[in-house]
Amino acid sequence: MKFITRYCVYLLPLFALSACETGHETGYNPLNDYTQLDPATIFATPEPLPSSNYSTEQLARGKYMVGLLGCGSCHTDGALVGAPDPARLLAGSDTGIAYTSPFIDDNPGVVYPRNLTPDMETGLGTWTMSRLVDMIRVGTVDHSGRSIPVMPWPAFASITTEDAFSIAAYLKSLRPVRHQVPANVNPGQKAKAPFVHFGVYQTIQ
Ligand code: HEC
Repeated sequence: MKFITRYCVYLLPLFALSACETGHETGYNPLNDYTQLDPATIFATPEPLPSSNYSTEQLARGKYMVGLLGCGSCHTDGALVGAPDPARLLAGSDTGIAYTSPFIDDNPGVVYPRNLTPDMETGLGTWTMSRLVDMIRVGTVDHSGRSIPVMPWPAFASITTEDAFSIAAYLKSLRPVRHQVPANVNPGQKAKAPFVHFGVYQTIQ
């Protein structure tokens, strides 16, 4: 049973229906459980508050970089499902992203893009600048050296220290928005909040 389910999935998308019709789960199509969405393509970046710690140039550079690198595509609530919430720009997403395949595992691992505004309890308020710069460059969340899934930090790893610092300065200068995102879900646990899945699939010849 399990084998046949996987067999169907691996053959997606070209042969899914014909392969499934020969199995126990006649007509089963895993995509039936999902809705096609158009994620947002424009990522608004809020104006930072005036800061005595960072220069106007640093903040402008940080704002530019955050827009260019599309941090809001994940970290703005609603952006992943095509309806970014202007009151929660960069303040975290209630929609998560599955990092194991929901077509193979009914309960995939899910991470929720965090609140990047400097709210003390729900955001980056307590983060030091060096922790934030490290996070952007090497994707570590804590001092145990754990690298986070999904966030495309390897694509940012060649960023200059100045640019990473500008991003951190900009995020630290945003108006704090109080918004607690749902807790991450380990593979095998059932997610209570919605999630999307990005996948790259190849046809089997
Ligand atoms: C493809 C989606 C995606 C993009 C784009 C993205 N992130 Fe993330 N980010 C995430 C996810 C998901 C997490 C949470 C991962 C986890 O908890 O394991 C995260 C976590 C973080 C954290 C850790 C926050 C915390 O409280 O633990 C920071 C800081 C961060 N991202 C900054 C950025 C910045 C800056 C950018 C743009 C340069 C960016 N992210 C772009 C998905 C993304």
